[in-house]
Amino acid sequence: MADSDRHPFLQGFSKHRGAPATVVVIFGASGDLTARKLIPAIYNLSYDNLLPADFHLVGYGRKPIPDEEFRTMASGAVKEFSRRELDAEIWGRVAANTTYVSGGYDERAGFDRLAAHIGEIEKGIGGEVQSLFYISTPPSVFGPIIENLGLSGLGGRNLGNANHSKVVVEKPFGRDLNSARLLNSALRSVFSEEQVYRIDHYLGKETVQDLLVQRFANSIFEPLWNRNYIESVQITVAEDQGVGTRAGYYEQSGCLRDMIQNHTMQLLALTAMEAPGSFEAEAVRDEKVKVLKAIQPIALAEPGDVCRAQYVAGMTGGKSVPGYLDEEGVAPGSGTETYAAIRLSINNWRWHGVPFYLRSGKRLARRVSEIAVQFKAPPGTIFGQKERFDLAANTLSFQIQPDEGLSMILNAKIPGLETRTQPVKMSFRYATAFGSNTPEAYERLVLDAMIGDGTLFIRGDETETSWKLYTPVLDFWRSQGRKGMEGYPAGSWGPNEAGGLLAPRGHAWRQP
Ligand code: BG6
Repeated sequence: MADSDRHPFLQGFSKHRGAPATVVVIFGASGDLTARKLIPAIYNLSYDNLLPADFHLVGYGRKPIPDEEFRTMASGAVKEFSRRELDAEIWGRVAANTTYVSGGYDERAGFDRLAAHIGEIEKGIGGEVQSLFYISTPPSVFGPIIENLGLSGLGGRNLGNANHSKVVVEKPFGRDLNSARLLNSALRSVFSEEQVYRIDHYLGKETVQDLLVQRFANSIFEPLWNRNYIESVQITVAEDQGVGTRAGYYEQSGCLRDMIQNHTMQLLALTAMEAPGSFEAEAVRDEKVKVLKAIQPIALAEPGDVCRAQYVAGMTGGKSVPGYLDEEGVAPGSGTETYAAIRLSINNWRWHGVPFYLRSGKRLARRVSEIAVQFKAPPGTIFGQKERFDLAANTLSFQIQPDEGLSMILNAKIPGLETRTQPVKMSFRYATAFGSNTPEAYERLVLDAMIGDGTLFIRGDETETSWKLYTPVLDFWRSQGRKGMEGYPAGSWGPNEAGGLLAPRGHAWRQP
């Protein structure tokens, strides 16, 4: 494809972002994530000419699957889940180098076969390749995979310069501080930190990356970005879907582990961090860790900083839906929360006294993720008469999804022969400014891992810092059984009790 035929944002792109010859090995090759996200991401990278000339895809899994069948599965995944239609020629380029190795995750011989297979690929190419091991299996086999990558010599293959072998680890990265530490030490016994790419797919979302650009490529925000001007910050990651067919996983997880500890904390870190010295991975991640470390321990005893709840039967999209306890696969009397809200305080010079409110849940009124920064009211406003002057707090909101963009609530004069006011919204919409066919998070993340750019991945100390904050909450909830578990009707904005976290400061949840 000629450079000029490509999407305008991609022109000139691959010239400075080329990956070396690469074998991507997917552990968990017949899993859901592979079909929904990874294979479509690889296809779209190929579509945009962003894969290296020598690119090979190897599926690894317990099930014996002939190469041809794996290719058929993969093309089916592209047809069903890719943002672009399957183009036979483009897919053909990937398929020609797609193979499958079967073996157990705790079976050393399987990894030796994999090593021999990669050796054959290198022979065919006539040179060395970097291996990107993508662990997309249930977490119970993360440990054996890492150990066997070490034992078979695959993990330690250091090809000099930046071309190490690399490992991408899917979530969940541990289920508390202790398990996250164990997983980190297993990884470190085989890989160096710079070879490890811990995924939080929220970091691959365009608007999440845009947050850094808005904050650090514009000068107007920084002078206001502190406790002198900001009243509070609200971070919402709301879903309208219920637990669906994933109760098996979700029952072991719950909202705090599934969404708060990772996705909302990443949004918080990018909102609250100091400006890094450069846009390099370590500089950015150092600042994220610093701000996460400045968060105060979460108060648990009544009235604490947390609220948890489960959805009960309600209406969504005009349809009645069952409550969580009646969903298939959910244990009777389950103590798993489907909603969590937290109030956090950051103890540093910039944020002292500014509450950060986080909430996430399933079966909420609509699917929306946003960061809303509410500014302080002007001092002793001259527009005091409520009946004439309808005023709202200035609020800057980063719309992560859907309707990606940025908006600002300002107060304006209503046209007319007397002075009356009304809040107005000034908006920037991604789709309007740039068109809507933006890459999926996984495209960016798979490409970055191949290139060796860890900026949008989570460092080991970052994940441990976040778990350190939330493990006491999880322990406390476990000790309480269902005590303190609130309910909210499916299709609502969550339990009324969550409003209690904001009320002491006179704040209220937004209805985005
Ligand atoms: C995943 C969670 O990490 O994120 C899911 O495990 C959740 O429960 C999903 O539905 C939400 O991702 P997105 O990109 O649809 O907001």
